[in-house]
Amino acid sequence: MPGDKSISHRALILAALARGRSVIARPNLGDDVAATATMLRALGADCALDRSKAQALVESKGRTSLREPQSVLDAGNSGTSIRLLAGVCAGIEALSVLSGDSSLRRRPMLRVVAPLRQMGARIDGRSHGDLAPLVVRGGGLTGIDLELPLASAQVKSAVLLAGLFAEGTTTVSEPGASRDHTERMLSALGAELERTERGVSLVGGTELGAFDLVVPGDLSSAMFLIAAAALAPGSDLTLIDVGLNPTRLAALEVLRSMGADIDLEYETDVLGEPVGQIHVRYAPLHGVDVPADAVPGLIDEIPALAVVASRAEGTTLFTGVGELRVKESDRIAALASGFETLGNPIEVSRDGFTVTGPVRFTGGEVDSFGDHRIALAFAVAGSVATERVRIRGWSSVNTSFPEFLDLLGEATSKR
Ligand code: S3P
Repeated sequence: MPGDKSISHRALILAALARGRSVIARPNLGDDVAATATMLRALGADCALDRSKAQALVESKGRTSLREPQSVLDAGNSGTSIRLLAGVCAGIEALSVLSGDSSLRRRPMLRVVAPLRQMGARIDGRSHGDLAPLVVRGGGLTGIDLELPLASAQVKSAVLLAGLFAEGTTTVSEPGASRDHTERMLSALGAELERTERGVSLVGGTELGAFDLVVPGDLSSAMFLIAAAALAPGSDLTLIDVGLNPTRLAALEVLRSMGADIDLEYETDVLGEPVGQIHVRYAPLHGVDVPADAVPGLIDEIPALAVVASRAEGTTLFTGVGELRVKESDRIAALASGFETLGNPIEVSRDGFTVTGPVRFTGGEVDSFGDHRIALAFAVAGSVATERVRIRGWSSVNTSFPEFLDLLGEATSKR
């Protein structure tokens, strides 16, 4: 699997905040992580992504050495880049402008802007600070005690990164458990961090040490191959070196509850992140109600789960998934449009949808709406469709998983 995207972003950022030389092996080589690397370079960290060696080298004199960027920091399509780096820029005594592509400039930013303002950063942007470009005048932060109205790893991480620069303690609690890579990695790198009942608290000011890391494989990317295997009779697939962080495993639990035959084998731990193998064998599937409290743990996997649900007996109900409307595309609308084209229209509400099966996808031309996870989900649909499925905007897969077709081909050629 390609390296985990969330961990790769964090590894580059934490290495840029640490003093010394960090070597990050097998980072995700998609456009999103490349955007983070470029933004960090503009902030003064020596950050080189070497594609041929599949490694990143980051050399920094620590967080206090970061300086004012000379031009706009371009996050491209990447919500994680703009939100996490807004947290970093809030900590630097400098004026930074952060922006991105037309999709990113439509996505809500007040969720990070408001708490960073509360910490003392001066931030403005279009729509009173809710839309990029964001203009951040950083420095002079103090810790806050924040209760997030919505579980979000990006917001939690932005505030924790700002908290590293802040005077005093920063505490973040969430209504559900979003992915906790930032907490695990910060702890492993010597930050003064404590888990609380519903969140985390961090003492500002600690100097982080440089580190070496082999990035675990990306479970969210793996999910598309797992889904393809779960749908194809006779499949028996093993994925190696995949990140098995418990805050990322909810989609596998849902698949199991649908009847899927999936085993995990834990092997090792890197910077607090469990890593191991995933085995998937074909089994008949049935529909389930996906519990709303599981949603923060499987938000990126819903497009793949929806495709799997189409081949399952009965209905699968997704509720409390309104966040899908503000991802790289409106994923509920994008799924509805493609499912209609492929012969299994789904029933949609404001914050959910229902898939009824088993329905065999027909062929047709679907739109990815420029969203990598929508493109990949419809590629999985195509792998079990009766006719050819064409995907408009396929190049969006470069965001996270340019290797997908090669890996799918490799897996299916071994049947
Ligand atoms: C991510 C967090 C999630 C996820 C996104 C990556 C991260 O978003 O959807 O693809 O790396 O922190 P939220 O912050 O909205 O949970």
